[in-house]
Amino acid sequence: MSTLDEILGEAQAAFVAVDSLPALDQAKARFLGKSGLVTEQMKGLGALAPEERKAAGARINQVKDQVEALLKARREAIQVAQLEHQLKEESLDVTLPGRGEAVGGLHPVTRTLARIEQLFASIGFEVADGPEVETDFYNFTALNIPEDHPARAMHDTFYVQGGQLLRTHTSPVQVHYMQDHQPPIRIIAPGRVFRVDSDATHSPMFHQVEGLWVDEQASFANLKGVIQDFLQRFFERDDLRVRFRPSFFPFTEPSAEMDMSWGDGWLEIGGCGMVHPNVFAHVGVDPERYQGFAFGLGVERLAMLRYGVDDLRLFFENDVRFLKQFA
Ligand code: DAH
Repeated sequence: MSTLDEILGEAQAAFVAVDSLPALDQAKARFLGKSGLVTEQMKGLGALAPEERKAAGARINQVKDQVEALLKARREAIQVAQLEHQLKEESLDVTLPGRGEAVGGLHPVTRTLARIEQLFASIGFEVADGPEVETDFYNFTALNIPEDHPARAMHDTFYVQGGQLLRTHTSPVQVHYMQDHQPPIRIIAPGRVFRVDSDATHSPMFHQVEGLWVDEQASFANLKGVIQDFLQRFFERDDLRVRFRPSFFPFTEPSAEMDMSWGDGWLEIGGCGMVHPNVFAHVGVDPERYQGFAFGLGVERLAMLRYGVDDLRLFFENDVRFLKQFA
């Protein structure tokens, strides 16, 4: 068996010979491991006479401490060397040009909403808000939509637990607003709506802007004027024309489909009409004193026309190559 001095010398030589931390750990095991040289010395103590044991034990511990100190010194030296090596390898050229910062932009739908809000604000409309998770009452009943209306079917409407639903249009905001405010009322309500529908021109989530104007005098002619003025300014085209086609919505009477001139033809951009007396009855507005008109516009439709986008789904795929073009 080697003497303690020999062991110490061997440890020193072994540690200096390695230059990586894993190799150093292996070398450590040879001396301090379970059957390492220093450990074996400890085990040998039992064979000594009791009076020799104490001094021998102290001496072994001293050597053990020295081996550990050597180990620690070598570990630090290896770490410093590695860091120096790394710093030398990874040289940094501070004279290289910068990579630049990627600046984000507003989503085209957000820009369109902002533009719509700004144009309506300029003629005195306030922006109103309502919940996206609605009750049957606000989304249907208060809007005079009958029990057996197809829009109430599961295949058109997303129902959530507890019998609530994701609003299928922004019209329920009319109801919320009229419950809380007396006329005169002049609001738009932009927001997300949800329908079980998906193809190139339909997305299960899309945006609408609701409009509502209630006053002692708010006529069908005013409605057409507001819509025409808005569209002409939105598309920056004074020659843009608006056409109303008779239609049906349960919450308006009479009702119309709104078209605008586009090239040689017409494009449908929303629905509108005079607020139905049954809707006024649900919210406690006196239909003898007040009248009003309402309209609903598709926001993605307006954005597609304004920016020349031909597939609605592009708005929601979040492909930066698409979104970048609007920044
Ligand atoms: N809520 C209707 C829809 O989503 C759109 C609409 C039509 C809104 C006529 C109105 C309106 O306010 O008067 O299909």
